[in-house]
Amino acid sequence: MASALTIRPFRGPATGVAAVPGSKSVTNRALILAALGDGETILEGALFSRDTRILCEALRTLGFAVGEEPEARRITVMGLAGVIPRGRARLHVGNAGTAARFLTAFLCLHPDGEFELDGDAAMRARPMSGLLRALGGAGARATSPDGREAAGFPFVLRTRGMAGGELRCDASASSQILSALLMVAPLAPGLRVTLEGPTVSEPFVAMTERMAADFGRPLERDGSTWSCPDPGPYKARGRHAVEPDATAASYFIALPAVAGPGSRIRLRGYAEGGLQGDVAFAGVARACGAGLAQAGPDAVSASWTARRGGNFDFNAFSDTFLTLAALAPALGEPVTIRGIGHTRRQETDRLLAMATELARLGVRVEPPVEALRDDPAADHLVIHPSLEAMRRTTERGPARIRTYEDHRVAMSFGILGSLDLHGDGRPWIEIEDPACVAKTFPGFFDALETLRGGFVRVAIDGGAASGKSSTSRRLAEMHGLLHVDTGSHYRAVTLALLRAGIRPGDAEATGRALARLRVGTTIRGLGAQVEIDGAVPGGEELRGAAVTAAVSPVAALPCVRAFLLGYQRDQVELARAGGFSGVIMEGRDIGSVVMPDAEVRVFLEADPAIRSARRLAEGVRDAVDQRDKADASRATAPLTCPVGATRIDNSRLSLDEVAERVSRLIRDAR
Ligand code: DC
Repeated sequence: MASALTIRPFRGPATGVAAVPGSKSVTNRALILAALGDGETILEGALFSRDTRILCEALRTLGFAVGEEPEARRITVMGLAGVIPRGRARLHVGNAGTAARFLTAFLCLHPDGEFELDGDAAMRARPMSGLLRALGGAGARATSPDGREAAGFPFVLRTRGMAGGELRCDASASSQILSALLMVAPLAPGLRVTLEGPTVSEPFVAMTERMAADFGRPLERDGSTWSCPDPGPYKARGRHAVEPDATAASYFIALPAVAGPGSRIRLRGYAEGGLQGDVAFAGVARACGAGLAQAGPDAVSASWTARRGGNFDFNAFSDTFLTLAALAPALGEPVTIRGIGHTRRQETDRLLAMATELARLGVRVEPPVEALRDDPAADHLVIHPSLEAMRRTTERGPARIRTYEDHRVAMSFGILGSLDLHGDGRPWIEIEDPACVAKTFPGFFDALETLRGGFVRVAIDGGAASGKSSTSRRLAEMHGLLHVDTGSHYRAVTLALLRAGIRPGDAEATGRALARLRVGTTIRGLGAQVEIDGAVPGGEELRGAAVTAAVSPVAALPCVRAFLLGYQRDQVELARAGGFSGVIMEGRDIGSVVMPDAEVRVFLEADPAIRSARRLAEGVRDAVDQRDKADASRATAPLTCPVGATRIDNSRLSLDEVAERVSRLIRDAR
């Protein structure tokens, strides 16, 4: 029997920063475009999952240099301007629809190729004939093992390059067929691609168009015909940023609906104006009761205030229908999901799979499962509120959800299982074959775990160059914390005073200037940045010699400390409201004055010689010892190791070692 994962319900609020990986659709398109580019492209924030690895591997097999750096989420591709080095290769596309379709069209650019292609059992049943027929029109031949013209995997593809002319394609079963042809169009001058009939998931076609333009070859659309007015190899991008996966984000938008009251999740890089059509899920979630608020320039926070149902057409963003389907029985009203007939031929028959597994939990669905099985044309699902029925069904123990090798079935039921259905934290859902999430989101269940802990406050104190900033930044990444560098607050005030011509340490003039000074905060990534009079001061100015020389006497003034104390305490609430898992604040008096009740308090130390050397290595001459003396000897909030804080001397420890020690304290605090 396949292994299963028991989902632990959330007994408290879900909070924190969702670790959403890069978009699969963007990563796999970018890989193809980069390989057809005229030089090197580095994909930043790329997805590392089974589907993207399959495409990277295939490109390498074909002779491309593709470098993967999973830790840095970076893939480097050396494009060869439309040349495919090897003309003979065996390629396996797994169950990756993007790789299957994109590669097949891509290979047809080879002037004399013979490629053996196959996929997983599930992929053999997925639609390919529309693509193979279209490519046949361009001179390629796909032959099945029985010698006949192939309609799907496995097949041998014989290619002779692509010239101009008209290709007609039927993409009614999958928009990837059209996208695959559009991506090679600029490399086949004079080629026109005409869509016969409708396609599904239009936004994915728009994504392809936008990305082709980003890579320097805009396509022109005239009705249902596309062409490239300025054909040629794509232009290498240097760096290309991959957006976080909007489909994966849908699970974390849904989570607060089932987790405890006060749940709020922060989604980094989630933008409704991006390339991905699946951001439309946000509109559905709003209609059902989600509140999605912009939380800084590059993030959105999700919380829920109501639990409504509704009637929704998911045709254009159908990968997210499973998220709503799994959430639906926990909502207060029926949910109707339309326009999902084409999902019956994806990773699995998704409509039937969701209906079957919901019914297993006792949920009432229409059409009923047997009717769906008998009617392959059925294309909608109604799901009724079913809390009571699910309780009865799982009273004696968890129900085991079958996942049909479909990552989205696994992830969506993982969200439903986070609901504390029985009110006592008892698990009631098990997910069969949880590893299937590796297709697009290998760390999904870990990411879910990190949202479970309560809000944690971490105070990091220490002298100049004691490693506070790098340690805090690392910990913020590891735990989804808002990073607040209070040194920058004192520096910003110092800068404002210097600009106003006030002598550092002049208490009276400083007091008058502070009365007029407005400080605010912008959150970028995981960092809170101080704003002075509506603008974020430049880092170089803030850390420059003039400010560094003046900051200690300014920071010693009681009026400055009083002014910033309230501001710094407000940062904790900002972190809470922004959906962070907590806050990590660094400075000289955080554990003693600003957050004396923080759950974790750390005092970092290092030999003065080592600290000066660190500053020099950063190219900064900083009398760290002198500054520490001034900071430690002032009357108000002097630099000291707070009582009860954990002292860590990092003179001989690596950043990883220090971060791990503090991480242990954070985990214990939770
Ligand atoms: O961490 P830093 O070097 O950027 O800090 C600049 C100055 O700000 C430091 O010399 C003392 C002052 N400071 C302070 O007095 N209290 C804090 N909590 C943080 C910084």
